[in-house]
Amino acid sequence: MAGQGLALPEPKNRLLLWSVLVVVSLISGAYFVGNAFFANEYKQCLPLAIDLTIHKLGLSDKRLARWGLIHTISNSESNACKRQCLPFGTEALPEGIIARTSNLEMRPLWDSGKDHQKILSNVLEENLEISSKRILKRPLNLLAMAVGLKQKEIVSKIVEKFLSSEFVVMLFHYDGFVDGWKSLAWSKHAIHVSAINQTKWWFAKRFLHPDIIAEYNYIFLWDEDLLVDNFDPKRYLSIVKEEGLEISQPALDPTKSEVHHPLTVHKAGSKVHRRYYKLRGSGRCDDNSIAPPCIGWVEMMAPVFSKKSWQCVWHLIQNDLIHAWGLDRQLGYCAQGDRMKNVGVVDSEYIVHLGLPTLGGPNGNEASTIRLPWR
Ligand SMILES: *[C@@H]1O[C@H](CO)[C@@H](O)[C@H](O)[C@H]1NC(C)=O
Repeated sequence: MAGQGLALPEPKNRLLLWSVLVVVSLISGAYFVGNAFFANEYKQCLPLAIDLTIHKLGLSDKRLARWGLIHTISNSESNACKRQCLPFGTEALPEGIIARTSNLEMRPLWDSGKDHQKILSNVLEENLEISSKRILKRPLNLLAMAVGLKQKEIVSKIVEKFLSSEFVVMLFHYDGFVDGWKSLAWSKHAIHVSAINQTKWWFAKRFLHPDIIAEYNYIFLWDEDLLVDNFDPKRYLSIVKEEGLEISQPALDPTKSEVHHPLTVHKAGSKVHRRYYKLRGSGRCDDNSIAPPCIGWVEMMAPVFSKKSWQCVWHLIQNDLIHAWGLDRQLGYCAQGDRMKNVGVVDSEYIVHLGLPTLGGPNGNEASTIRLPWR
């Protein structure tokens, strides 16, 4: 038995062994080449990413040098990085000064930067991770609405709920009456933008560029004729995160809402639904349906977008879009994967859609003072 272990294989077997070896080395060769290629690609962009983070944290060069970070960065720099990763038009600027994105945060007129300095020294003294969280402790979600003064009462209720949930609130005034909102206590905490007779989509395209709102995790782009008595923004957010919904909307209370599509109707006792069934008549929706209006769809009156889906949707919004009819059916492109999973309607937090003739609908701008039918 002992002598058999090292015996050479028969010539036929030897050939087989060689071909196996050749195949294995080819595969591993391809693997290493591929790896080197990707690592290289990644490296070229990495210094800038680090740089941006450092810039964001406002860390000084001295401290960084002490940590040995600067050294690492300049070593791994390459011209390819400069060419490929810097925003177009910034070639003349020193690296590290470029602020690529922004936010909607308002700043005090005489910001001495004292708090900022205090936070920074904490960063250096304490654990970096914990402190950077503290720096980022500011509202990380955005509510944007196109509003007219005639809906003041309803809008105010919505805004109060979102502001108390630490949202940034941006109001687009299509009627130009910005001053009419001043009497409300929250008014100075909202950002007001005014342009006559423009729709929510016009404003969103012009003022919600993904680079400007890069810090907000979720973007609520809502109409003004919604009641939020059964809606809590924080609970809603925790549900969409948990369910992985990239594009969502709260369900509509069918007893009080103007409902256009049965998919959006509130289902009592449910948390979230993604499809609806219509097993008779025309336009059937069953388990085999894979497209709107049966599944993977939200309407345009109260959509909620994740940061990633908004980056896509912003590009989808055409510059001549007015009411965006039909846009809803295209949102699946921006679902970050399977729209049947990533697009859905939240039932446990739901709203009422009043369907008021506000801006430019069939009865556009004829809205007189609002009468809520059930009051
Ligand atoms: C805005 O729209 C209304 C209704 O269509 C119209 O009467 C008004 O003249 C428009 N205003 C401007 C500045 O275009």
